[in-house]
Amino acid sequence: MIIPKKVSRPTKAEEEKILELEEAKKKFVPTVALPTKGKKIPELLRGFRDILPDEQPYWDFFRDTARSLAESYGFERIELPILEKEELFIRTVGKQTDIVEKEIYTFEDKGGDKVILRPEMTASAARAYINHGMLNLPQPVKLWYMGPTFRYDRPQAGRYRQFNQFGLEAFGSNEPIIDAQIIVATFYLLKSLGIETTTRINSIGTPDSRLAYKTELAAYYRTKKNQICEDCKRRLLKNPLRLLDCKAEECQVVKEGAPQILDWLDEDSKNHFMRVLEFLDEAGVPYTLDPHLVRGLDYYNRTVFEIWAVSDEGERAQNALGGGGRYDGLVELLGGREGTPGCGVALGLERVVMAMKELKIQPPVKKIDVFFAQLGDSARRVGLRIFEDFRQSGISVREAFGKGSLKTQLENANKLEVPFTLILGQKEVLDGTIIVRDMESGAQEIVDAGKIVQIMKKKLEIIKSLDNKG
Ligand code: HAM
Repeated sequence: MIIPKKVSRPTKAEEEKILELEEAKKKFVPTVALPTKGKKIPELLRGFRDILPDEQPYWDFFRDTARSLAESYGFERIELPILEKEELFIRTVGKQTDIVEKEIYTFEDKGGDKVILRPEMTASAARAYINHGMLNLPQPVKLWYMGPTFRYDRPQAGRYRQFNQFGLEAFGSNEPIIDAQIIVATFYLLKSLGIETTTRINSIGTPDSRLAYKTELAAYYRTKKNQICEDCKRRLLKNPLRLLDCKAEECQVVKEGAPQILDWLDEDSKNHFMRVLEFLDEAGVPYTLDPHLVRGLDYYNRTVFEIWAVSDEGERAQNALGGGGRYDGLVELLGGREGTPGCGVALGLERVVMAMKELKIQPPVKKIDVFFAQLGDSARRVGLRIFEDFRQSGISVREAFGKGSLKTQLENANKLEVPFTLILGQKEVLDGTIIVRDMESGAQEIVDAGKIVQIMKKKLEIIKSLDNKG
């Protein structure tokens, strides 16, 4: 058993000495770093942002939850390069889509290759599936990814030029249960974060069954030509399906009256869609049929969907948290085996974090066990070793080696809500002791510095067992 050497609060004389030291330090005026005259401060590019330490708990909450959910659903992680050949996305996302027409970051590299900062990751995942012969693995091959993507979008709330996506992709099965599983997994991921969602869902059939619909849609829009935006006039000529992606206000009324693709679906696609919906019903996952949802990427066929946050009043935000669908022609389009099906989803992390903040969801904070406060140079020197002993023993510890004042260090400890602070001054270094302060009661005891790690382990275990009982 460890018997502490002495249990004591600081004496009046000790307290006075501390106060005296604090007062002396206040008289010392630190130099504040001011911007150097005449030098321009570098600015962030428009649509780009720094994710600062105080926002990281939200990101960690998302990343940890997403990783464990993806793995529990049998998805394996894949990391894909940020830079790809431009052609990969032009062929798959589609030449006449907003992404390719207006939003891609492309340039020629030093070797003369036309390269692109990836605007999404599904095409990269399909490329990797082909490149690495994954068709020889048991199908479906289920992959997940997370990382930055780039679109030269008009910056506004929820729209950035660099943003992060988390995605799930399943290659090699056309079973409707796969579509449903991806929607269900996404629903539970967001639910675990505290975000209630609904999925807007539609089926866009096969490219063949869409032909007749496109003709009908174009005929309808031609009758409304003077009510639609300039972009839509172009879309009408080049790719009428994209008319339904338009976000311009004047085009929304026109869209409402547009013919619905479901009426043009082939029998197989209709049955596929019905089965997806049945699986969602069975799983109790909410969805809303959206007969005009087509999504802004060309590789989709059959199921398409978007994930929206909801509250009691209905859908919450202007922007979807995520979207996805089936892409049974994508692998073949890239030269992979004919008829390799696929289905997936991607969530925008910035939008998920934004929703967490709006909903006042508190991400879990990592608890720190011990704060180490030091007074004087010799204490600092010993402090480095003590800090390392704690770190190696698995006890989380913070310090403020950059600070001299005990008051400031105790304020730091209070902010971190640590149960204990260790105080090491000149005297303690000479005596081979250390002060342990219980932050709740303020009680202090002086203990053997050589046994501090074991002593703290015991104290923390007691707190833990009390917490578990309480
Ligand atoms: P997407 O709908 O283009 O689909 O993007 C997915 C999500 O990325 C969006 O719902 C949104 O949350 C986020 N996002 C898109 N653009 C921005 C932006 N400018 N700023 C912030 N967030 C943004 C895809 O990318 C498909 N690859 C999804 C997929 C996976 N389909 C099948 N598998």
